[in-house]
Amino acid sequence: METVNTFQFLLTTKVIFGQDQIHVLENELRVLKASKAMIVTDKGLIKAGILDDIVNIIEKAGINHYMYDDVTANPTIKSVDLAAGKCQEEGCDILIAVGGGSVMDTTKGISIVATHDGSSYDYLDGRGENKKEIVQEPLPIIAIPTTAGTGSEVSFYSVLTDETTKIKDSITSHKIYPKTAIIDPTLTAKLPPYITACTGMDVLGHALEAYTSTIENTMTDLFALEAIKLVFENLSQAVNTGDMKARSNMAYASILAGIAMSHCGATIPHALGCPLTGHTGMPHGLAVGLLQIPMLAFNGTFMEDKIKHVLHYQHVDMSQIQEGTYHTYLIQMIKKKLVQEIHLEEGLEAYILDDQVMDAMTEDAYIHGCRMINPREVSKADIKAIYSEFINKQE
Ligand SMILES: [Fe+2]
Repeated sequence: METVNTFQFLLTTKVIFGQDQIHVLENELRVLKASKAMIVTDKGLIKAGILDDIVNIIEKAGINHYMYDDVTANPTIKSVDLAAGKCQEEGCDILIAVGGGSVMDTTKGISIVATHDGSSYDYLDGRGENKKEIVQEPLPIIAIPTTAGTGSEVSFYSVLTDETTKIKDSITSHKIYPKTAIIDPTLTAKLPPYITACTGMDVLGHALEAYTSTIENTMTDLFALEAIKLVFENLSQAVNTGDMKARSNMAYASILAGIAMSHCGATIPHALGCPLTGHTGMPHGLAVGLLQIPMLAFNGTFMEDKIKHVLHYQHVDMSQIQEGTYHTYLIQMIKKKLVQEIHLEEGLEAYILDDQVMDAMTEDAYIHGCRMINPREVSKADIKAIYSEFINKQE
Protein backbone atom coordinates (compact mmCIF):
# COMPACT_ATOMS: atom_id res chain seq x y z
CA MET A 1 0.00 0.00 0.00
CA GLU A 2 1.27 3.50 -0.85
CA THR A 3 2.07 5.67 2.16
CA VAL A 4 1.64 9.40 2.46
CA ASN A 5 4.97 11.14 2.94
CA THR A 6 5.69 14.18 5.09
CA PHE A 7 4.98 17.41 3.28
CA GLN A 8 4.14 21.10 3.53
CA PHE A 9 1.86 22.78 1.03
CA LEU A 10 1.45 26.52 0.65
CA LEU A 11 -0.08 28.50 -2.19
CA THR A 12 -0.93 32.07 -1.26
CA THR A 13 -1.86 33.08 -4.80
CA LYS A 14 -5.53 33.49 -5.66
CA VAL A 15 -5.92 31.58 -8.93
CA ILE A 16 -8.60 32.77 -11.36
CA PHE A 17 -8.88 30.53 -14.41
CA GLY A 18 -11.09 30.57 -17.48
CA GLN A 19 -11.61 31.82 -20.99
CA ASP A 20 -12.46 35.54 -21.17
CA GLN A 21 -11.83 35.98 -17.44
CA ILE A 22 -9.39 38.86 -17.92
CA HIS A 23 -12.17 41.32 -17.00
CA VAL A 24 -11.81 40.28 -13.32
CA LEU A 25 -8.62 42.35 -13.27
CA GLU A 26 -10.76 45.44 -12.61
CA ASN A 27 -12.12 44.02 -9.37
CA GLU A 28 -8.76 42.59 -8.29
CA LEU A 29 -7.16 46.03 -8.59
CA ARG A 30 -9.87 47.42 -6.32
CA VAL A 31 -9.50 44.55 -3.82
CA LEU A 32 -5.73 45.16 -3.64
CA LYS A 33 -6.38 48.91 -3.19
CA ALA A 34 -3.97 49.93 -5.95
CA SER A 35 -3.45 53.58 -6.91
CA LYS A 36 -0.80 53.30 -9.64
CA ALA A 37 0.11 50.13 -11.49
CA MET A 38 3.36 49.31 -13.23
CA ILE A 39 2.58 47.05 -16.16
CA VAL A 40 5.59 44.82 -16.81
CA THR A 41 5.66 43.34 -20.30
CA ASP A 42 7.62 43.20 -23.55
CA LYS A 43 7.40 45.05 -26.85
CA GLY A 44 6.31 41.96 -28.78
CA LEU A 45 3.15 41.61 -26.71
CA ILE A 46 2.32 45.30 -27.11
CA LYS A 47 2.80 44.96 -30.88
CA ALA A 48 0.53 41.90 -30.89
CA GLY A 49 -2.21 44.01 -29.28
CA ILE A 50 -2.43 41.82 -26.18
CA LEU A 51 -2.11 44.79 -23.83
CA ASP A 52 -4.96 46.83 -25.35
CA ASP A 53 -7.81 45.21 -23.38
CA ILE A 54 -5.73 45.10 -20.21
CA VAL A 55 -4.97 48.82 -20.35
CA ASN A 56 -8.67 49.55 -20.93
CA ILE A 57 -9.59 47.49 -17.86
CA ILE A 58 -7.01 49.30 -15.71
CA GLU A 59 -8.35 52.67 -16.88
CA LYS A 60 -11.92 51.52 -16.21
CA ALA A 61 -10.85 50.70 -12.64
CA GLY A 62 -9.79 54.37 -12.31
CA ILE A 63 -6.14 53.49 -11.70
CA ASN A 64 -3.14 55.22 -13.22
CA HIS A 65 -0.48 53.12 -14.86
CA TYR A 66 3.09 53.17 -16.09
CA MET A 67 3.95 50.84 -18.96
CA TYR A 68 7.35 49.16 -18.71
CA ASP A 69 7.99 47.15 -21.88
CA ASP A 70 11.76 46.61 -21.78
CA VAL A 71 11.69 43.00 -20.54
CA THR A 72 13.87 40.73 -22.65
CA ALA A 73 14.38 36.96 -22.56
CA ASN A 74 16.41 35.65 -19.62
CA PRO A 75 16.27 38.79 -17.45
CA THR A 76 19.51 39.93 -15.88
CA ILE A 77 20.27 41.35 -12.46
CA LYS A 78 20.99 44.73 -14.05
CA SER A 79 17.73 44.78 -16.03
CA VAL A 80 15.69 44.05 -12.90
CA ASP A 81 17.50 46.74 -10.90
CA LEU A 82 16.88 49.32 -13.65
CA ALA A 83 13.19 48.39 -13.84
CA ALA A 84 12.87 48.63 -10.05
CA GLY A 85 14.36 52.14 -10.22
CA LYS A 86 11.68 53.11 -12.76
CA CYS A 87 9.01 51.68 -10.48
CA GLN A 88 10.23 53.84 -7.58
CA GLU A 89 10.49 56.95 -9.78
CA GLU A 90 6.93 56.46 -11.00
CA GLY A 91 5.57 55.78 -7.49
CA CYS A 92 3.82 52.54 -8.48
CA ASP A 93 2.23 50.51 -5.67
CA ILE A 94 1.22 47.39 -7.60
CA LEU A 95 2.83 45.34 -10.39
CA ILE A 96 0.89 43.75 -13.23
CA ALA A 97 3.00 41.13 -15.04
CA VAL A 98 1.71 40.39 -18.54
CA GLY A 99 3.79 37.84 -20.45
CA GLY A 100 5.78 34.64 -20.12
CA GLY A 101 8.43 33.46 -17.70
CA SER A 102 10.87 36.31 -18.29
CA VAL A 103 8.20 38.89 -17.50
CA MET A 104 7.19 37.01 -14.34
CA ASP A 105 10.81 36.65 -13.17
CA THR A 106 11.47 40.35 -13.80
CA THR A 107 8.32 41.40 -11.96
CA LYS A 108 9.13 39.34 -8.88
CA GLY A 109 12.62 40.86 -8.83
CA ILE A 110 11.15 44.38 -9.10
CA SER A 111 8.74 43.67 -6.22
CA ILE A 112 11.72 43.13 -3.90
CA VAL A 113 14.25 45.69 -5.16
CA ALA A 114 11.64 48.49 -5.25
CA THR A 115 10.95 47.93 -1.54
CA HIS A 116 14.45 47.10 -0.27
CA ASP A 117 18.00 48.43 -0.33
CA GLY A 118 20.58 47.13 -2.76
CA SER A 119 20.41 45.05 -5.90
CA SER A 120 18.49 41.91 -6.90
CA TYR A 121 21.93 40.24 -6.75
CA ASP A 122 21.86 40.56 -2.94
CA TYR A 123 18.80 38.29 -2.69
CA LEU A 124 19.97 35.41 -4.92
CA ASP A 125 20.13 31.93 -3.36
CA GLY A 126 23.71 31.53 -4.60
CA ARG A 127 24.83 34.29 -2.24
CA GLY A 128 24.60 31.75 0.58
CA GLU A 129 25.33 33.29 3.96
CA ASN A 130 25.68 36.72 2.34
CA LYS A 131 22.14 36.61 0.99
CA LYS A 132 20.05 39.53 2.27
CA GLU A 133 16.78 38.85 4.01
CA ILE A 134 13.53 40.09 2.51
CA VAL A 135 12.22 42.00 5.51
CA GLN A 136 9.57 44.28 4.01
CA GLU A 137 6.44 43.18 2.22
CA PRO A 138 7.32 43.26 -1.52
CA LEU A 139 4.99 45.11 -3.90
CA PRO A 140 1.88 43.05 -4.69
CA ILE A 141 1.84 41.30 -8.06
CA ILE A 142 -1.03 40.38 -10.36
CA ALA A 143 0.32 37.78 -12.79
CA ILE A 144 -1.33 37.42 -16.19
CA PRO A 145 0.47 34.72 -18.22
CA THR A 146 0.36 34.85 -22.01
CA THR A 147 2.12 31.51 -22.48
CA ALA A 148 1.17 28.08 -21.15
CA GLY A 149 4.43 26.88 -19.72
CA THR A 150 6.31 28.76 -17.09
CA GLY A 151 4.03 28.14 -14.13
CA SER A 152 5.72 31.19 -12.63
CA GLU A 153 2.32 32.74 -11.87
CA VAL A 154 1.97 30.16 -9.08
CA SER A 155 5.58 29.88 -7.94
CA PHE A 156 7.78 31.72 -5.48
CA TYR A 157 10.94 31.82 -7.64
CA SER A 158 12.48 34.59 -9.70
CA VAL A 159 15.17 33.21 -12.03
CA LEU A 160 17.76 35.82 -13.02
CA THR A 161 20.97 35.71 -15.05
CA ASP A 162 24.25 37.29 -13.99
CA GLU A 163 25.20 39.21 -17.13
CA THR A 164 28.93 38.80 -16.43
CA THR A 165 29.18 35.10 -15.56
CA LYS A 166 26.07 33.97 -17.53
CA ILE A 167 25.06 31.95 -14.47
CA LYS A 168 21.35 31.67 -13.75
CA ASP A 169 20.33 31.85 -10.11
CA SER A 170 17.05 32.24 -8.22
CA ILE A 171 15.50 34.45 -5.62
CA THR A 172 13.33 32.11 -3.57
CA SER A 173 10.76 33.45 -1.12
CA HIS A 174 7.11 32.81 -0.29
CA LYS A 175 6.81 36.61 -0.19
CA ILE A 176 7.06 36.83 -3.99
CA TYR A 177 4.09 34.60 -4.69
CA PRO A 178 1.80 36.74 -6.88
CA LYS A 179 -1.27 37.90 -4.94
CA THR A 180 -3.49 36.99 -7.89
CA ALA A 181 -2.94 34.95 -11.03
CA ILE A 182 -5.45 35.50 -13.81
CA ILE A 183 -5.07 32.67 -16.31
CA ASP A 184 -7.20 33.44 -19.34
CA PRO A 185 -6.28 30.92 -22.08
CA THR A 186 -7.60 33.26 -24.79
CA LEU A 187 -4.47 35.37 -24.16
CA THR A 188 -2.38 32.48 -25.55
CA ALA A 189 -4.35 32.45 -28.84
CA LYS A 190 -1.75 34.50 -30.74
CA LEU A 191 1.22 32.48 -29.50
CA PRO A 192 3.27 31.16 -32.47
CA PRO A 193 3.48 27.34 -32.81
CA TYR A 194 7.18 27.19 -31.94
CA ILE A 195 6.73 29.09 -28.66
CA THR A 196 3.66 26.99 -27.86
CA ALA A 197 5.83 23.90 -28.41
CA CYS A 198 8.75 25.07 -26.27
CA THR A 199 6.64 26.35 -23.39
CA GLY A 200 4.52 23.20 -23.50
CA MET A 201 7.60 21.03 -23.10
CA ASP A 202 8.57 23.14 -20.10
CA VAL A 203 5.24 22.10 -18.55
CA LEU A 204 6.14 18.45 -19.11
CA GLY A 205 9.52 19.06 -17.49
CA HIS A 206 8.07 20.77 -14.43
CA ALA A 207 5.61 17.94 -13.87
CA LEU A 208 7.85 14.96 -14.63
CA GLU A 209 10.84 16.34 -12.75
CA ALA A 210 8.81 17.41 -9.69
CA TYR A 211 7.18 13.97 -9.63
CA THR A 212 10.54 12.20 -9.64
CA SER A 213 12.65 14.54 -7.51
CA THR A 214 13.94 13.30 -4.15
CA ILE A 215 11.73 15.83 -2.36
CA GLU A 216 8.51 14.86 -4.16
CA ASN A 217 5.32 15.44 -2.27
CA THR A 218 2.32 13.12 -1.99
CA MET A 219 -0.11 15.98 -2.47
CA THR A 220 1.57 17.64 -5.45
CA ASP A 221 2.11 14.21 -7.09
CA LEU A 222 -1.57 14.48 -8.03
CA PHE A 223 -0.94 17.79 -9.77
CA ALA A 224 2.12 16.43 -11.56
CA LEU A 225 0.46 13.25 -12.85
CA GLU A 226 -2.53 15.14 -14.21
CA ALA A 227 -0.28 17.74 -15.84
CA ILE A 228 1.79 15.06 -17.62
CA LYS A 229 -1.41 13.45 -18.93
CA LEU A 230 -2.77 16.79 -20.15
CA VAL A 231 0.47 17.56 -22.02
CA PHE A 232 0.37 14.23 -23.86
CA GLU A 233 -3.29 14.75 -24.71
CA ASN A 234 -3.18 18.40 -25.78
CA LEU A 235 0.23 19.80 -26.68
CA SER A 236 0.39 18.54 -30.26
CA GLN A 237 -3.07 19.90 -31.02
CA ALA A 238 -2.33 23.24 -29.37
CA VAL A 239 0.84 23.59 -31.50
CA ASN A 240 -0.51 22.31 -34.79
CA THR A 241 -4.07 23.68 -34.82
CA GLY A 242 -4.13 26.33 -32.09
CA ASP A 243 -7.41 24.78 -30.92
CA MET A 244 -8.65 26.80 -27.93
CA LYS A 245 -9.76 23.75 -25.93
CA ALA A 246 -6.26 22.28 -26.28
CA ARG A 247 -4.75 25.65 -25.35
CA SER A 248 -7.02 25.86 -22.28
CA ASN A 249 -5.98 22.39 -21.19
CA MET A 250 -2.31 23.35 -21.60
CA ALA A 251 -2.86 26.53 -19.56
CA TYR A 252 -4.43 24.40 -16.83
CA ALA A 253 -1.57 21.87 -17.06
CA SER A 254 0.89 24.75 -16.67
CA ILE A 255 -0.68 25.78 -13.35
CA LEU A 256 -0.71 22.22 -12.02
CA ALA A 257 2.90 21.63 -13.05
CA GLY A 258 3.97 25.02 -11.70
CA ILE A 259 2.48 24.23 -8.28
CA ALA A 260 4.18 20.81 -8.27
CA MET A 261 7.55 22.24 -9.24
CA SER A 262 7.44 25.11 -6.80
CA HIS A 263 7.00 22.56 -4.00
CA CYS A 264 9.22 19.72 -5.20
CA GLY A 265 11.82 21.35 -7.43
CA ALA A 266 13.14 19.92 -10.67
CA THR A 267 15.96 17.55 -11.66
CA ILE A 268 18.63 17.09 -14.37
CA PRO A 269 16.80 18.79 -17.26
CA HIS A 270 16.52 22.07 -15.35
CA ALA A 271 20.02 21.72 -13.83
CA LEU A 272 21.50 21.29 -17.32
CA GLY A 273 18.91 23.32 -19.22
CA CYS A 274 19.46 26.58 -17.31
CA PRO A 275 23.19 26.75 -18.28
CA LEU A 276 22.26 25.91 -21.89
CA THR A 277 19.96 28.90 -21.94
CA GLY A 278 22.39 31.11 -20.02
CA HIS A 279 25.37 30.39 -22.29
CA THR A 280 23.74 29.92 -25.70
CA GLY A 281 20.40 31.75 -25.52
CA MET A 282 18.54 28.52 -26.32
CA PRO A 283 14.85 28.86 -25.34
CA HIS A 284 14.30 27.41 -21.88
CA GLY A 285 11.51 25.08 -23.01
CA LEU A 286 13.54 23.73 -25.92
CA ALA A 287 16.51 22.94 -23.67
CA VAL A 288 14.44 21.46 -20.86
CA GLY A 289 12.11 19.64 -23.25
CA LEU A 290 14.86 17.83 -25.15
CA LEU A 291 16.69 17.02 -21.93
CA GLN A 292 13.74 14.92 -20.75
CA ILE A 293 14.96 12.10 -22.97
CA PRO A 294 18.56 11.78 -21.66
CA MET A 295 17.20 12.38 -18.14
CA LEU A 296 14.90 9.34 -18.46
CA ALA A 297 17.71 7.25 -19.95
CA PHE A 298 20.07 8.25 -17.13
CA ASN A 299 17.66 8.09 -14.19
CA GLY A 300 15.49 5.28 -15.59
CA THR A 301 16.08 2.36 -13.28
CA PHE A 302 16.39 4.67 -10.27
CA MET A 303 12.76 5.75 -10.58
CA GLU A 304 11.14 2.85 -12.39
CA ASP A 305 8.13 2.60 -10.03
CA LYS A 306 7.39 6.26 -10.57
CA ILE A 307 7.58 5.95 -14.36
CA LYS A 308 5.34 2.88 -14.19
CA HIS A 309 2.79 5.00 -12.37
CA VAL A 310 3.07 7.79 -14.98
CA LEU A 311 2.23 5.26 -17.72
CA HIS A 312 -0.52 3.63 -15.67
CA TYR A 313 -2.12 7.03 -15.02
CA GLN A 314 -2.28 7.55 -18.78
CA HIS A 315 -4.06 4.22 -19.26
CA VAL A 316 -1.17 2.71 -21.23
CA ASP A 317 -1.61 -1.05 -21.71
CA MET A 318 0.97 -2.18 -19.16
CA SER A 319 0.85 -5.82 -20.28
CA GLN A 320 2.92 -4.97 -23.34
CA ILE A 321 5.81 -3.49 -21.34
CA GLN A 322 8.50 -5.57 -19.64
CA GLU A 323 9.55 -4.77 -16.06
CA GLY A 324 12.64 -2.57 -16.12
CA THR A 325 11.78 -0.92 -19.45
CA TYR A 326 9.08 1.51 -18.38
CA HIS A 327 11.44 4.46 -18.82
CA THR A 328 12.36 3.42 -22.38
CA TYR A 329 8.64 3.17 -23.20
CA LEU A 330 8.10 6.72 -21.89
CA ILE A 331 11.11 7.94 -23.92
CA GLN A 332 9.49 6.58 -27.08
CA MET A 333 6.18 8.24 -26.15
CA ILE A 334 7.93 11.59 -25.71
CA LYS A 335 9.80 11.23 -29.00
CA LYS A 336 6.78 10.15 -31.04
CA LYS A 337 3.86 11.97 -29.44
CA LEU A 338 5.64 15.17 -28.54
CA VAL A 339 9.08 15.96 -29.99
CA GLN A 340 8.25 14.80 -33.54
CA GLU A 341 4.67 16.02 -33.67
CA ILE A 342 5.49 19.49 -32.40
CA HIS A 343 8.69 19.78 -34.53
CA LEU A 344 10.70 20.66 -31.44
CA GLU A 345 14.12 19.99 -32.94
CA GLU A 346 13.70 22.43 -35.81
CA GLY A 347 16.20 25.25 -35.33
CA LEU A 348 18.35 23.35 -32.85
CA GLU A 349 21.39 23.68 -35.15
CA ALA A 350 21.39 27.44 -34.54
CA TYR A 351 22.98 26.95 -31.13
CA ILE A 352 26.71 26.45 -31.13
CA LEU A 353 28.15 24.27 -28.40
CA ASP A 354 31.94 24.05 -28.50
CA ASP A 355 34.14 22.43 -25.86
CA GLN A 356 34.79 25.68 -24.03
CA VAL A 357 31.10 26.46 -23.67
CA MET A 358 30.40 22.88 -22.65
CA ASP A 359 33.01 23.03 -19.89
CA ALA A 360 31.48 26.24 -18.52
CA MET A 361 27.96 24.77 -18.70
CA THR A 362 29.13 21.62 -16.92
CA GLU A 363 30.49 23.65 -14.02
CA ASP A 364 27.25 25.65 -13.77
CA ALA A 365 25.06 22.54 -13.96
CA TYR A 366 27.10 20.83 -11.27
CA ILE A 367 26.38 23.58 -8.73
CA HIS A 368 22.72 23.96 -9.77
CA GLY A 369 20.26 23.15 -6.97
CA CYS A 370 18.22 20.83 -9.21
CA ARG A 371 21.20 18.47 -9.57
CA MET A 372 21.12 17.87 -5.82
CA ILE A 373 17.55 16.51 -5.83
CA ASN A 374 17.90 14.28 -8.87
CA PRO A 375 17.02 10.68 -7.92
CA ARG A 376 20.44 9.46 -9.09
CA GLU A 377 23.82 10.97 -8.17
CA VAL A 378 25.10 13.06 -11.10
CA SER A 379 28.85 13.57 -11.68
CA LYS A 380 30.52 16.14 -13.91
CA ALA A 381 31.35 13.33 -16.35
CA ASP A 382 27.64 12.39 -16.46
CA ILE A 383 26.72 16.01 -17.19
CA LYS A 384 29.25 16.21 -20.02
CA ALA A 385 27.97 12.96 -21.51
CA ILE A 386 24.40 14.28 -21.51
CA TYR A 387 25.44 17.59 -23.09
CA SER A 388 27.30 15.63 -25.77
CA GLU A 389 23.98 14.28 -27.00
CA PHE A 390 23.08 17.83 -28.02
CA ILE A 391 26.31 18.22 -29.94
CA ASN A 392 25.78 14.87 -31.67
CA LYS A 393 22.32 15.97 -32.72
CA GLN A 394 23.81 19.01 -34.44
CA GLU A 395 26.38 17.14 -36.53
FE1 LIG B 1 11.11 25.46 -16.50
